[in-house]
Amino acid sequence: MDNKTEKLLRGRLLSFKSSPTGPNDTSAYTYEEDGALLIRDGKIIANGIYAEVLTAASPTAQEVDHRPHLLLPGLIDTHIHFPQAQVIASWADQLLDWLNDYTFPAEQKFADKVHGARIAKGFYDALLANGTTTAVAYCSSHPNSVDAYFEEAEHRGMLMVGGKTMMDRNAPDALCDTAQSSYDESKALLQKWHGRGRTHYAVTPRFAITSTPAQLEAAGALLKEHPGCHLQTHINENHNEIALTRELYPEAADYLGIYEDFGLLGPKTLLGHCIHMNERELGVMKDTGSVAVFCPTSNLFLGSGLFDKARLEGAGIRTAIATDVGGGTNYSMLRTLDEGYKVLQLQRQRRHPLETFYWATKGNADALSLSDRIGTLEAGTDADVIVLDAGATQPMALRMETVETLSEELFLLQTLGDDRSVVETYVAGEPRKGA
Ligand code: GUN
Ligand code: ZN
Repeated sequence: MDNKTEKLLRGRLLSFKSSPTGPNDTSAYTYEEDGALLIRDGKIIANGIYAEVLTAASPTAQEVDHRPHLLLPGLIDTHIHFPQAQVIASWADQLLDWLNDYTFPAEQKFADKVHGARIAKGFYDALLANGTTTAVAYCSSHPNSVDAYFEEAEHRGMLMVGGKTMMDRNAPDALCDTAQSSYDESKALLQKWHGRGRTHYAVTPRFAITSTPAQLEAAGALLKEHPGCHLQTHINENHNEIALTRELYPEAADYLGIYEDFGLLGPKTLLGHCIHMNERELGVMKDTGSVAVFCPTSNLFLGSGLFDKARLEGAGIRTAIATDVGGGTNYSMLRTLDEGYKVLQLQRQRRHPLETFYWATKGNADALSLSDRIGTLEAGTDADVIVLDAGATQPMALRMETVETLSEELFLLQTLGDDRSVVETYVAGEPRKGA
């Protein structure tokens, strides 16, 4: 179908406007029982009650009836590692051993563009199977891997964020760049990919342990020269990591102080993990508008600790949620919401499903400063849409018999759902699940 043909998707529409304050906060979202989306040129041009949207459609519009399923914005994964598609499910000790024993060896293979291109196909297949239409990824330190990552994104028409991992010490030689080469290569990649179609570049120093001060300075320079780009890195994930980091940067006030000193913080900065934060760090996070990214399956798998959402948000810090594959154990944002629920439940902070589905859509889009394009079903935004079936498996269908409310249905999707619950994934209006 060419792009000019209109598409009319019919189903039960759910889209969030803001974070629901509780189960009864109907002002935070729009829900249309018999709704429709009208799509043209990859964008949503109308939404609402089916009968009304139908009147706006051209006579040649192609109608797809997804009733009785839910139509939601595509899910957004704000932290994932593309070269770890063959690291996921590795039996390892905690973070630093896992990196040395499995992750660094696997990432070395990405020097080969053919390998990167093949893994990219599998990686994007997995995202789309799970209803993820945008992800923010670390590539390897090889420029080839960044090209492989964005070429596949472009091929599938996806809004993807990513960047070359900068790392110039404490890793095998085959993965290490230098401060200068990481600057030069990142800059060239950024100039090639940032804003080309739907792709966005993220300056990506891995973490302070694998970057010399000169390299973090280079990352700060890149960000200053290209303020439209994101910056992503890791922080305060694991106690041994923190101890080694403090030895390497004895002058810094604390872990966050390192990134602060090199000008890496700001509203487009995504900080993975943020588990073991001190009070000063919370204040700096808030003041700079930096985002704390919760990676529940990874935090459990690597035994890293419990993300304290209430403490972070109480301090006024923006938060996002993500898979962190391959430290994370599932590509599915539904599985991720479920594990996140359990991490918060352990701390008496369980969240309502309306809030968690907001988080994985509009919330993550806001965290990326991209909610004018993705994360909702609003007219004028990109037509990244998923179709969810809360009765997709036998146990789900059985439980669905007793579900009476939208909230119960969402909680069922979160608790038992996975790729089997994703009936279709539309990217810029095109069906892409399995395509
Ligand atoms: N810290 C530095 N690199 C990584 C990584 O690849 N995964 C996780 N979970 N933490 C990291
Ligand atoms: Zn990570």
